[in-house]
Amino acid sequence: MHEKEIVDKTLAELGGATPEKVLARFAEVSERFDKQVAVHSADPENWRIFVLTWTGRKGGVLSLITDNWLKPAPPELKRVVGQELNKLKAHVEAVLEERRVEIEAAAEQAVQAREQIDLSLPGVERAVGTRHLIRQTYEELQRIFLSIGFSVVEGPEIETPYYNFEALNIPEHHPARDNMDTFYIEGARGGHVLRTHTSPMQIRTMEKQAPPVRIIVPGKVYRRDNPDATHGYMFHQIEGLAVDTDITFCDFKGTVEYFVREFLGPQAKTRLRPSYFPFTEPSAEVDATCHVCGGSGCRVCKFSGWIELFGAGMVDPAVYGFVKYDAERLSGFAFGMGVDRLAMMKYGISELPLLYQNDVRFLRQFP
Ligand code: DAH
Repeated sequence: MHEKEIVDKTLAELGGATPEKVLARFAEVSERFDKQVAVHSADPENWRIFVLTWTGRKGGVLSLITDNWLKPAPPELKRVVGQELNKLKAHVEAVLEERRVEIEAAAEQAVQAREQIDLSLPGVERAVGTRHLIRQTYEELQRIFLSIGFSVVEGPEIETPYYNFEALNIPEHHPARDNMDTFYIEGARGGHVLRTHTSPMQIRTMEKQAPPVRIIVPGKVYRRDNPDATHGYMFHQIEGLAVDTDITFCDFKGTVEYFVREFLGPQAKTRLRPSYFPFTEPSAEVDATCHVCGGSGCRVCKFSGWIELFGAGMVDPAVYGFVKYDAERLSGFAFGMGVDRLAMMKYGISELPLLYQNDVRFLRQFP
């Protein structure tokens, strides 16, 4: 039966308005309260509603008894109803208060149990990453060139054929394009290419900036190469360009030698071998004494004592024509290094794919 069913009616309506019946009615209500306390105190939400059901100012059981039993009671019963109501009120309030204290204590205990920290448990170990070998090598190369006054610029990996080829003195049907065949992207204004080298940034920089220029350009480059132990469709380069009014071949050679000693150690010697690039004249391949045998000859240097490092040369005056630099007054040198290649050589890595597989057993060797 619902709590409120009997207290909604007056005592007269409930039948019988004698003192004995009043006592019995109150006993019945009190008993019901006692039974329900146990049931509802388990769940905080139920408990809140239960408390309101009994003590709510409007429509709570106690206030309904006041309205329906006490107020309309005949004068001869008022006293006993009043007394019983006060007893019931006192009982309900005392029990509710008692349970409230218990419930709050239990909740507090639960929070404490949940938040208890066991200091004897092992901590959470986080794996700490490291810079990839390519990144480490870039940073080493940049350190060397920044120390002698170069600054770093970067450029787009999607280039126009003009910057990638023409302005570098590589005309459309020039055979030098063959070994740099690349990925062409069809589209407006003659399409685009994934840049085959970082050299286009020589042009972009000189177009924007008056001499003197001393820049290095780190970045990714792309070629339509068949992947093997030393080739991939993408690799990393660092380009260099220095242009000023009085740069000579001696400056070029001195810079290159300084770089080689910094990168490979003070014992390393440098050799310039004649070569060809459309945008440098003269052009050279820069070799260093083999870092493995020191120049006496071994398997790594194919018993020559020398290792090829990178291509370089004095800027071809034709290039200045494309950027409206005065070829009569200006001179300079340029170089282009394969970062993957330099890293493989320096650290004795024979397979290029190792650099890209991200196998931690490999990466951990270069912390
Ligand atoms: N761009 C050339 C390549 O990717 C490398 C190179 C050679 C760059 C000579 C230069 C240079 O700046 O002077 O094969």
